[in-house]
Amino acid sequence: AVYLATTSAPVNIACIKYWGKRDTKLILPTNSSLSVTLDQDHLRSTTTSRADASFEKDRLWLNGIEEEIKPVGRMATCIAEMKRLRKELVEDKDPSAAPLSKYFVHIASYNNFPTAAGLASSASGFAALTASLAELYKLPSTPTELSLIARQGSGSACRSLLGGFVAWNAGDLESGSDSFAVQVAPETHWPDIHALICVVSDTKKGTSSTSGMQRTVDTSPLLQHRIKEVVPQRMKDISAAIIARDFDRFAEITMADSNQFHAVALDTSPPIFYMNDVSRSIIAVIEEYNRVAMLPENGGKRKAAYTYDAGPNAVIYAPSANIKEIVSLIVRYFPQQETFKDPFSLFGAAGVG
Ligand code: DP6
Repeated sequence: AVYLATTSAPVNIACIKYWGKRDTKLILPTNSSLSVTLDQDHLRSTTTSRADASFEKDRLWLNGIEEEIKPVGRMATCIAEMKRLRKELVEDKDPSAAPLSKYFVHIASYNNFPTAAGLASSASGFAALTASLAELYKLPSTPTELSLIARQGSGSACRSLLGGFVAWNAGDLESGSDSFAVQVAPETHWPDIHALICVVSDTKKGTSSTSGMQRTVDTSPLLQHRIKEVVPQRMKDISAAIIARDFDRFAEITMADSNQFHAVALDTSPPIFYMNDVSRSIIAVIEEYNRVAMLPENGGKRKAAYTYDAGPNAVIYAPSANIKEIVSLIVRYFPQQETFKDPFSLFGAAGVG
């Protein structure tokens, strides 16, 4: 028999940012986070995995180039965890099941977007890897259960196992068994929101998320305030805004949280700068757009929300009716700038193959 499975997973963009680990090996975060999973059609990773008795070691190809699987690295951990689940959930229960947990795997993963663009390829990559091995191993696991494994590849990857609006509960157990992703609302709940990605720079960022967030944990006093006093309330408030389809409130919280994430990066020693002058100008344009929209005669509500991850590129969330106007604004202010001018619609769950 041939044991083969292919699965895709989309990128997710956080509205409440994950920034800081309390356990770097298990990848357990210092705070909960919440994101929106983008449509499968635009930014996704597609992973094929194959198990065979004749393979001599686990091997991995990323965009066609073989990468070393480091013995105790994140990739090795995810593969080992998936083999463990195969053994426990399938082979131990059904002695006639093929002993795939004992076979080596070959894994090939492709991104349909440039890895260098500073967009979250590790999130979709580890989510697609986990989903593909779950399919290969015929695991009965739910996406939330699989998120526990994807989390150990890259924290933000746990949220790409689900579509729509997704929360990653920080959890407080040392084992990490309560640190998983759950869907707050499916993609169908609020299909009107779109994401516009403005590529400000497609060169690779200076400080990686992994090392940057550790430096923040070690040195930023502001991070402690954020973890204890700010994020818990924001998680509740943004979940309520999503359930109520209240874009004004969703936008207010999303922009505030992006700004606080970049504030804790600046509060790190030595400080970390992810945004550049163009990033900051896009903030100014969206703030002005919202200021005018919030005038009573214009309806009194925000019409767009920006958010920035560990790089200078902007993601702008907006109801579909506003996208055209926002694109023309951005193009007018930044004519030299290479943006993705097609608005991306947001949603799509992983694991559809
Ligand atoms: C700013 O998930 O890439 O995008 O867990 O070390 O792999 P590791 O970090 P990663 O960090 C993402 C940080 C962020 C915010 C977010 O996606 O929540």
